[in-house]
Amino acid sequence: MATEQLFEQAAAQWNLAQLYEDLAKAKAELMPHKQYGLTTAEQTRLRGLLLGHSPAEIAKQQVIAVRTVEVALSQGLYRYLERLTGRDRNSLESWRDVADWLEAVGYRSTQIAINWNQMPDVPALYGRQVELDQLKHWMLGTSACRFVSIIGPAGMGKTSLAITLAKAVQKQFDGVIWQSLRHQPALDNVLGQWLNKLPDDITPHSDEWYDQLSALMNYLREHRCLVVIDNLESIFSSGSLVSEYAPNYANYRELLKCLGEQPHQSCIVVTSRERNQELAGSKAVNSPIRYLELGGLQYEDAAQILAAERLPTATKSYWKSLISQYRGNPLMLRIVAMTIQDLFDGDVRRFLGQKRTVVGNIEYLIDQQYERLSEAEQDILGMLAENAEPMPIEAIEHPRCLEAISALLRRSLIEKSAVGFTLIPVVMEYVRHHVP
Ligand SMILES: Nc1ncnc2c1ncn2[C@@H]1O[C@H](COP(=O)(O)OP(=O)(O)OP(=O)(O)O)[C@@H](O)[C@H]1O
Ligand SMILES: [Mg+2]
Repeated sequence: MATEQLFEQAAAQWNLAQLYEDLAKAKAELMPHKQYGLTTAEQTRLRGLLLGHSPAEIAKQQVIAVRTVEVALSQGLYRYLERLTGRDRNSLESWRDVADWLEAVGYRSTQIAINWNQMPDVPALYGRQVELDQLKHWMLGTSACRFVSIIGPAGMGKTSLAITLAKAVQKQFDGVIWQSLRHQPALDNVLGQWLNKLPDDITPHSDEWYDQLSALMNYLREHRCLVVIDNLESIFSSGSLVSEYAPNYANYRELLKCLGEQPHQSCIVVTSRERNQELAGSKAVNSPIRYLELGGLQYEDAAQILAAERLPTATKSYWKSLISQYRGNPLMLRIVAMTIQDLFDGDVRRFLGQKRTVVGNIEYLIDQQYERLSEAEQDILGMLAENAEPMPIEAIEHPRCLEAISALLRRSLIEKSAVGFTLIPVVMEYVRHHVP
């Protein structure tokens, strides 16, 4: 890519023309003998810094030595910036100051925020740094990724992760949109509401969803927005082996296809309990569509949840078993910690000894997932529940065995070991004792 085109997305969030001009004036005051105006290289580095890239990352993109970029910045741009913002010479301490200082004096375009205040509050998030780094790398790195989904079972922390991510990167976008699909809104209502809040120059030809969609895509091509769609599975129909849109929601497929496949400079984050074709993407390095399968928390992070719920630390030697029984699912761990407090006086050993795992709202959580399964999946859960030992695939006699096993694995309801397939403990107990 030619240098002039690098980091072009900065134009969506920053008033670049004004900035180039004002920095050129500061440069002229500092270095009157130099030709007036920022050089192309200076403009490129400025855009890179504004997008949150370090000098090392910028050097990599420009295919030049890091030292060259660092020297150029400290002899040029950093000094102009101090001048422009009325600071002392050499007071800039980190490349990160550049965006902060310029934002403080109003060079960032004002951000449009749609439903952003409807995002639920996320209390402390334990762990998940690896996942956050991965998602940020996909979204903000130099790959052309524009669509990421976070897939995982109920309570695993998808929404919490998406919100933490969105808050961490929101400054890098000139518009931010939050949309939960939990209450199954019709697509034309959703798009109508978004477009109402976007500038007037993108009025759709009609109120039909497809005209609204093409107006939206125009906007997302011209502007860099962050769109977070939570609970996509709410608009999938239940009872089928592959995740399909429910009858009145088929047009959402077009929305997701456009967001994933058409070129644009925005970023889409989707959370869903189920993965469908539009979310599948690929694991290839340059794929514009990526997904992250969210697994359980590591021991240390999960232990922080138990500690926060005030399980007595005297019982800590049993925490590992407890965490592993719930496969590190944060919501289940919170529920079970409360139950242990309330019914077992905080004694984890006694709780584990009574061998019941489906307590409190955990039943409801699995109910919700069980009801959505296809008949074949329910049949196979039943077969696996009859066996205490894992079953090899050959031993599972069912005409749709292979598809159903894959689907159940994707939903994290069953697990595979060297000897075969088995239910995770809570699902085992649920199927044995709670399914009529
Ligand atoms: N990493 C974490 N650290 C601490 N608490 C967490 C973490 N992840 C999730 N939680 C807590 O677990 C609960 C469930 O999280 P969240 O709502 O994000 O799950 P989800 O995967 O979106 O579930 P659903 O499929 O029902 O939408 C919340 O109470 C949240 O605060
Ligand atoms: Mg959620």
